[in-house]
Amino acid sequence: MPIFLDTGNISDIEKYLKMGIIRGVTTNPTILLQAGVTGGMKGIKERSVEIANLVDPYPLSVEVTTNDPKMMLEQAQEFAGWAKNINVKITIHGPKGELDNLEIVHELENKHDIRVNVTAMMSAQQCLLAAMAGATYVSLFGGRVNNMGYNSCEEIRKLRTVLDDFSLDASIIIGSTREVLNIIEWLEAGAHLVTVVPKLLEGMIVHPYSKETVQMFLDDAAKTEKA
Ligand code: E4P
Repeated sequence: MPIFLDTGNISDIEKYLKMGIIRGVTTNPTILLQAGVTGGMKGIKERSVEIANLVDPYPLSVEVTTNDPKMMLEQAQEFAGWAKNINVKITIHGPKGELDNLEIVHELENKHDIRVNVTAMMSAQQCLLAAMAGATYVSLFGGRVNNMGYNSCEEIRKLRTVLDDFSLDASIIIGSTREVLNIIEWLEAGAHLVTVVPKLLEGMIVHPYSKETVQMFLDDAAKTEKA
């Protein structure tokens, strides 16, 4: 099940679902804003429920919008109640490195039976600890890792090795796609899933030489009519 779509855009989700090539959707507040969501929590709920129903039984990740631990816990439970296929995104830590979040992840997974996607991670070591806390998904931002001058494929290889060696169940999602090549190279490096922006998914399908070849077939088919 290797490809999720990283978007809040309904028509893109419908398009790729009909092709049968996506197995889930991930969002975050930035993605929802870019997809035209307004109205705060009301707007986030409306769009999230719409996407969740569209992709059911595949999963949808929805990110909490607060850094307050108590509110994070409440939001996570609320989101999980919107649809059975919604899992909750919690960042690895707060914007100043506050350490409350893994405790929340652990509580949500173990006490509330809510699937958590730990997000905004830039290293294998962050992902390892999120997996140990019990996260169902650990999201490494491959494009941002590369942009910082590190090798995302190396991080993925290290992460997959330690998760397998210690029988940790978390699925590795690599996000932050920047190039068409990212998808296949990250899967080859050991990612369980890559969450892809719609434009790059189209780039994986369309090849200039395939276009030329298809045109040749069509032209020659037409010529047989006249021969
Ligand atoms: C992953 O789940 C995130 O939504 C996303 O891929 C982040 O990517 P960005 O680096 O483009 O913000």
